[in-house]
Amino acid sequence: MSGQFNDWMKASLAEFEVHLTNLLPTVDTIPAHLHEAMRYAALDGGKRVRPLLAFAAGRLFNAPSELLTRAAAALEMIHAYSLVHDDMPCMDDDALRRGKPTVHIQYNEATALLVGDALQAQAFLVLAEGDASAERKLPMLQLLARAAGSIGMCGGQAIDLASVGLALNLAELEQMHRLKTGALLSASVLLGAMSGKNLSTEEVAALNSYADAIGLAFQVVDDVLDATADSATLGKTAGKDAADNKPTYVSLLGLEASKTLAEKLRNDAHDALLPFGEKAQHLRDLADLIVQRKA
Ligand code: IPE
Ligand code: IPE
Ligand code: MG
Ligand code: MG
Ligand code: MG
Repeated sequence: MSGQFNDWMKASLAEFEVHLTNLLPTVDTIPAHLHEAMRYAALDGGKRVRPLLAFAAGRLFNAPSELLTRAAAALEMIHAYSLVHDDMPCMDDDALRRGKPTVHIQYNEATALLVGDALQAQAFLVLAEGDASAERKLPMLQLLARAAGSIGMCGGQAIDLASVGLALNLAELEQMHRLKTGALLSASVLLGAMSGKNLSTEEVAALNSYADAIGLAFQVVDDVLDATADSATLGKTAGKDAADNKPTYVSLLGLEASKTLAEKLRNDAHDALLPFGEKAQHLRDLADLIVQRKA
């Protein structure tokens, strides 16, 4: 990863934080308590991988920054909501997220439920509003809804919860990972690109194969880190998958084979970007970051 990539990432993230702050309801809007909790969940923490993917994909087609920023904020809001619900006692029952107490611990369970609900609604509002034409935004809204819903992230979470204690085979595990994590990461790449232009069939195919590879790699690495990193580094409770008897890549393949798979997926991601040449360099660097990350 080059210094240029690191500079780009730093500048993009700083700018994004300002926009995300402004696209969430303020704390003096009634009900203040809910808005404070929404901001607690979404701001000040997280790697912002989904926005970065959208920004990097947007560069391929010179996407206008206003729409790109709205798409990135919508993706991060959906992601933040999914984490708030994922951590609730009825799901993974976690007390630590992004180095802070989880929303249901800091506030209470009902607030956590509503924070998730409201962040999801806010995501669609933020993408639906703004300067871009309805023709440009409608397919983006549809894609985001599909990625977030029962045939995307929520579907994956349902499979995850139904799989506790079960020995999934590799195909079943892959399906679960593709839905619970891959769907929103894929949407991030596609929404970034779609902010710039109507994509050709070939462009969609190439971006999908990049996104498939990094989407799966991301959750494989998440499983590896759960088993190998500590809670302070992760900002969330380590060792939780084994403690909860969750099927993961580590439990099925072991650590070494999981790491090898992540490497293979990184190469697949690089290969998929060949048609885009030099303009895809940040997407290449993000694939490396996703596989090499330590948290
Ligand atoms: C964690 O996502 C949950 C998964 C989908 C694996 P991230 O690792 O992107 O979490 P943040 O946004 O950096 O906190
Ligand atoms: C959660 O997967 C994925 C979503 C939130 C959709 P995990 O349960 O593995 O995420 P962490 O490890 O708690 O971040
Ligand atoms: Mg979970
Ligand atoms: Mg979890
Ligand atoms: Mg995990």
